[in-house]
Amino acid sequence: MITVLKAVDYEQPQLEQRPSDAACATKHAWARVPEEPSQDERAALKDKIRGLLKEKNAVLVSHYYVHPDLQDLAEETGGLVSDSLEMARFGRDHAAQTLVVSGVRFMGETAKILSPEKRVLMPDLDATCSLDLGCPVTEFSAFCDAHPDRTVVVYANTSAAVKARADWLVTSSCALEIVKALKDKGHKILWAPDRHLGGYIQRETGADMLLWNGSCIVHDEFKAFELEALMREHPQAKVLVHPESPAQVVALADAVGSTSAILKAACEMDAKEFIVATDNGMLHKLRTLNPGKVFLEAPTAGNSATCKSCAHCPWMAMNSLADVARVLETGTNEVLVDTALIARARLPIDRMLAFTAALKGGRDVLQLVPGIGAA
Ligand code: 13P
Ligand code: SF4
Repeated sequence: MITVLKAVDYEQPQLEQRPSDAACATKHAWARVPEEPSQDERAALKDKIRGLLKEKNAVLVSHYYVHPDLQDLAEETGGLVSDSLEMARFGRDHAAQTLVVSGVRFMGETAKILSPEKRVLMPDLDATCSLDLGCPVTEFSAFCDAHPDRTVVVYANTSAAVKARADWLVTSSCALEIVKALKDKGHKILWAPDRHLGGYIQRETGADMLLWNGSCIVHDEFKAFELEALMREHPQAKVLVHPESPAQVVALADAVGSTSAILKAACEMDAKEFIVATDNGMLHKLRTLNPGKVFLEAPTAGNSATCKSCAHCPWMAMNSLADVARVLETGTNEVLVDTALIARARLPIDRMLAFTAALKGGRDVLQLVPGIGAA
């Protein structure tokens, strides 16, 4: 299978927000975008994967942003397509001994941290994330050390080592509730790495938050000016926005939330037309679940554009049927995380999972949040 190498620029954290000796040398990354297989090749690969999943006692877990084939195949074979939080939970609770995580690196690492006894495979171990790349652990640790009075809350889109430095882990589907609870218990927060998501939570909760300056190369590209023009062309359309988008874009939203929250809003809202500001891999699920509704991509192009991603994550795009078949067959691309790191990184993840389970069950979440100094 031919692959195309794609250079990817992403924003580094700004130096003034970080310790004076901090320097991250990496400004560019790359992604390998696989060529689309023919219809016959796709059918053959899917058949092969169905057989291998059974033979190897494995389950396929896909994120909403990966290729539609990988989303459909995951569901059809008893796996899951969902957001990063549900992917983590599902992998932990599933009986399969092998988890094939179709998404990006941090998702595979989270699965391994939660299920160290299982074999976690990924179609391509180089599939990463600009938020993870933009938050190297050495600099992040120094940042935390410089602010010992703050409770460290990190987004799931980070390395295992950064998670191991955190008090709490959050994903976009639970960040608001967790930060609100921490604020209610008097915590001041050090937040990393996404500045847009952090800014959104700060505005919504009024919490005292010191933000790391990372961003997602996909969501950072959505343009408020061009979105307003599209909204004028489609005055009935409801606007759904992922909070990794810039504040001006979030301000135009009818609903703001994680990938799952966007899906829920599209299913529940009465409108026939929607403008969606998130990775366009999401459109597959939105359209299959809402056949009578029209979904338009929010603009990443226009006068103010520098489009680096064209609304599709280059690293999510690295996941292919061919690689899923290959890793199942050969056992290569296993995600390995240092045992000592697993033990420490598990703490903030377990806190998040206990918190979200309590929230879902209608229990008192504040009981799960220790007072300052005890986190
Ligand atoms: P979710 O947590 O909503 O799945 O988002 C993950 C992600 O990478 C968004 O860009
Ligand atoms: Fe990271 Fe953005 Fe890709 Fe999500 S869409 S994995 S946040 S680069």
